[in-house]
Amino acid sequence: MDSTAQRAPRPTGRTVAYDPSSAASPLHVRAAAVLEAGWTGSSTVPSRGLYPHQWSWDSAFIAIGLRHLSPLRAQTELETLLAAQWADGRIPHIVFNPSVPLDAYFPSPDFWRSSTAGHAAGAPRTVQTSGIVQPPVHALAAWLVHLADPGLSRARGFLTRVYPRLAAWHRYLLHRRDLGGGGLVSVVHPWEQGMDNSPCWDRPLSRVTPAPARSFRRADLAHGSPEDRPTDLDYGRYVRLAADYRDRGYADGPGDFAVEDPAFNALLIASEYALARIARELGAAASARQDRAERLTAALVERLWEPSAGMFLCRDVRAGELIPERGVSGLVPLLLPALPRDLTTTLVRTLSGPHFGLGGTTRLVPSYDLLGEAFDPHRYWRGPAWFNTSWLLERGLRLHGERGRADALRRGILHTAGSSDFAEYVDPYTAQACGATGFGWTAALTLDLLHDRPTGDRNGVTAIKGGDRG
Ligand code: SER
Repeated sequence: MDSTAQRAPRPTGRTVAYDPSSAASPLHVRAAAVLEAGWTGSSTVPSRGLYPHQWSWDSAFIAIGLRHLSPLRAQTELETLLAAQWADGRIPHIVFNPSVPLDAYFPSPDFWRSSTAGHAAGAPRTVQTSGIVQPPVHALAAWLVHLADPGLSRARGFLTRVYPRLAAWHRYLLHRRDLGGGGLVSVVHPWEQGMDNSPCWDRPLSRVTPAPARSFRRADLAHGSPEDRPTDLDYGRYVRLAADYRDRGYADGPGDFAVEDPAFNALLIASEYALARIARELGAAASARQDRAERLTAALVERLWEPSAGMFLCRDVRAGELIPERGVSGLVPLLLPALPRDLTTTLVRTLSGPHFGLGGTTRLVPSYDLLGEAFDPHRYWRGPAWFNTSWLLERGLRLHGERGRADALRRGILHTAGSSDFAEYVDPYTAQACGATGFGWTAALTLDLLHDRPTGDRNGVTAIKGGDRG
């Protein structure tokens, strides 16, 4: 008899199921430690080395996970970000931590010069920020954070305080950023959409004259392999676009780059549904928001759906045409409840077909077309799989009744998060870790999937049904 058998407990006749969401489970403990290590006292860094400040959409995803550890910290995370909102309503994509050395991250506060260059647009005076934005996941995050502990949320007046700021944020996007005139929001920089070097941007970016390489010094290459990061040529263009925007006083209008992106707009719509729920919770009228979400969904289909691709594409507003590249952002509208049934069926087919391979060659959703000419399994948003997009698609699959696929994707996310040490992104075929490890939103969304049972009202984006519209 071997020693293991000797130590085996006697059967008790009772089966104790292993519960990975238990606070004692190894994955929970490791994910919680990542968020603990990234907590600064008022917000969470995405990564101590690569991203040492507060990032807008990272914070929203982080709050969604943090709510399972500390609803108070999750509320604080969003409140800290919203305290840096500009008077014109924009939520900046970075809020700088003044105690971090200037050369730890580029572009640093002295590049953006928010309090001077952004003065006319209403940049705050007491905190330094960037001047561009990131995807509007915040109202969805605020609603999910509220649901984690409604008693605490009400006692602190959390929703009462954040609602006007979130409403102003959506107003800014809808009124100042409809650069295409068709009702959708445009991004004016690839960093705004968040998938910085996606091949979807190659065509519109090719019109931008890069800033000379010697005019700036990248800090990211000190923390990550150059093969995993955007190229110098891409960086030169990012710097040129950001500097031009700054030099226009961050005024919105004609610029060299304007793109309507399906994920950015889908997240705005999901957040509009969440704002309707927040309004109803606060006793305010919700139906106008819900109607707007449905109108925006119709505009998304009208302007960005491409039947021959079986998915949504980006629209190059300056050129007046769709960009013929399949990026994961074109699948993210699966998150939306009012999408016509034939479109959701087609999106699920595309997701599991040869271009994205989910459930076949890939376990997480690649950021870009596996068959695309520009596909690269390691370089940032040109192919690797990211955890936030897979988390969004897991929700979308579940929302539209694709339970088996959603369960498999959930298992894939949890397994890969653990095996990659909460990597920033992974090779979609091998799950090899790329970029930073111990990455904030990877840990946070792992916690969310561990704790948020795949049943019940976990969405916050579902339509408010007839009777309960406020
Ligand atoms: N994602 C960008 C970076 O790598 C900017 O937000 O710094």
